[in-house]
Order: sequence, then C-alpha cells, then structure tokens
Amino acid sequence: MTTYKLLLLPGDGIGPEVMAQVETVIGFLGQAGIAAFETEHDLVGGSAIDAHGVALTDAALARADAADAVLLGAVGGPKWADVAYEIRPESGLLRLRKDLGLFANLRPAICYPALADASALKRELVEGLDIMIVRELTGGVYFGEPKEITTLPDGSKRAVDTQVYTTGEIERIAHVAFDLARKRSGRVASAEKHNVMKSGVLWKEVVTRVHAEYTDVALEHVLADNCAMQLVRRPKQYDVLVTDNLFGDVLSDVAAMLTGSLGMLPSASLGAVDDKGSRKALYEPVHGSAPDIAGRDIANPLAMIGSLAMALRYSFGLGEAADLLDGAITDALASGARTRDIAAEGAQALGTAGMGDAVVAALKARIG
Ligand code: IPM
Ligand code: MG
Repeated sequence: MTTYKLLLLPGDGIGPEVMAQVETVIGFLGQAGIAAFETEHDLVGGSAIDAHGVALTDAALARADAADAVLLGAVGGPKWADVAYEIRPESGLLRLRKDLGLFANLRPAICYPALADASALKRELVEGLDIMIVRELTGGVYFGEPKEITTLPDGSKRAVDTQVYTTGEIERIAHVAFDLARKRSGRVASAEKHNVMKSGVLWKEVVTRVHAEYTDVALEHVLADNCAMQLVRRPKQYDVLVTDNLFGDVLSDVAAMLTGSLGMLPSASLGAVDDKGSRKALYEPVHGSAPDIAGRDIANPLAMIGSLAMALRYSFGLGEAADLLDGAITDALASGARTRDIAAEGAQALGTAGMGDAVVAALKARIG
C-alpha cells in the first residue's frame, strides 16, 4: 500500500480540536489497511504569528510544497485583531493558496437527509441538495494590484482593491467546472456581473468559448446578485456553480448555510495537474476558527473529516475509501449523532471527540 505524505496545519481556534479527530480517523484507516499516511505538523495563522512572527514560515510553505496534500484547520481570532495587515493570520492561508497555485476551490454544499430540518430554509427546498461551487482562488480582487490605502492632498484617504482576470485564469477554472459537471448532472451555472464589471464581461465571454468544447454540458449565465437570491429561493436548480474569488467567497457561505450548518462542509483547493498526473492540493473546512467555542469540545469535526474524504478522492484516487468515509459520516448522522450546532433544541449533543468516535464506529460497522 502506498504511504501518502500529509502535512497537517491545525491553525487557530477550533482548528486543533477538529484536526485531532482527523488524526483519529487517519489512525483507523491505517490500521484497517484502507489508506496509509505519514503525517507532519506545522503552524499557520495566529499560532504561527505567536511562534515566529509570520502567519506562515518559508519552512512551513516548503513542507506544504513537498507533501502529497495539506490539511488545514482554520485561521484567525480576536487575539490577532490588531496585528499589521501584512502579517494577519489570513495571510498565511492566502500565501498557501497563491504560492502553491491552488486556483480551483471546490466547495460542495450537500444537505444530509438527517439535517434538512436544521436548515434555515424549509425542508422541501433543501432536502437532497447537492451543489458544487467551483470558486477561482488565486486571482481577482484578493490578489490584484494595486491594493492600497493612500492619503489624498486634503488629508482624507483613498482605498483601492483591484479586480483582475486574464483569459488563461478564466479558461482553466471553466475547464474544472465543465469536467466536474460531466461526472455530475451535466449542468453548469456561471456567475459574474457583466452588467457592471469588465472582468465580468471577459468572464462570460471566456466561459462561453470554453463551453464549446463541452456540448454535452448545459451552461447558464447568471448575475452574481441574482444567483445569491436564487440560492435562497430555489437552491436545487443549481448543480455546478463556477464563479470568481470574491463572489465565490460570498456565495459559498450562502450555500453552506442552506445545508443546516457551516460545520458540515469540506473544501478542496487544487492546483494544475503536472506531467506526472499529480497536483498540489489543500483541504480545509469552509467554517472558520470559531474562537468563541474553541477549546470546549463542542465544535463539529465533520467538515474537517469530510475534507480528509475529499483528499482521498481528489489527491490519492481513493474514491472507494472516500465513499466509505462519506458514508460513515452519513451513517453517524442517521444514527442520531449530533454536535451542538446541528442538534435539535434542548436535545443531547456529542462533543467534538464524541462525534469523531461516532464516525470511526460507523466506519467499523461499514467494513464489518
Ligand atoms: C474562506 C475564508 C477566507 C477567504 C478568509 C479566511 C481569508 O473566508 O476560505 O472562505 O476569504 O477566502
Ligand atoms: Mg469565506
């Protein structure tokens, strides 16, 4: 059995607690002979600032580059609210994305049957929901230059962020979306604002051109604001949704909440496929560091465990093992396992470690 090298970056807040559950699952997969991993740990975010004065050291970046995949918990928290913008916790995550070339961010929003009542929307609107948001992750307003605050002659200030996209950046993310759609229901919606933004005009034009290579896939263009509205009106109309970095950030939070809890959703950030057929990859929950509940054994570890399942699928070609792990999450939920965020009001809830154990028990039951 191949041993894969995983770099674990637990980060801040609830990151270390949910990552500990992934380590439990990794231990079980190894013992059961399903997948073998060699793990290394490093710091990212506020914990790296405390130890090294930067949110990601060059050494940690080099380890990430050398690993077969990176798993990241979460970064940030009020403790670092006043550090300089350049070294804020989020800069560690952004550097990983940019320097590893992780341009394709896959954010599935799946509503587990057992959780349909935890959604803010009515059960019939979200039951069976299965959307894949494909967010461009290394371009757009997150990284465009200039990005600055300058002082005007009258002493007032002027802030600039720059939204930039090139043909090549749009083409490669469009290919990711269309390729994924082929393995799903064959539908892509592309969200931009061509009615206001030049980058939206180019986005729409390039996506349309790439679509010509995928005549078996249906393409719909939607304005990003309308898309946000449609997501809460009739979310099941969407399958694959491709969009830029900033709209993707916003729309993926909306989609996440439809599923009942932000604590449920994993994500994959993927680079280009190289000549050996492999690609750089980072897997992380969509939720943040939740400092208000950190260290209390109440955080939901399922998004982090689901991120390991995505790593099995997208980095290691272990689709069956990924199905097994996703199935174990579904089984654990179906058997009533709930952390506080997804439990019915007043109902008994498991802690973070208890939920990790429930997933391992479900894995055991599945492999008999
Ligand atoms: C996300 C987060 C990040 C982003 C932050 C932490 C920089 O919100 O991954 O969605 O804006 O991309
Ligand atoms: Mg976000």
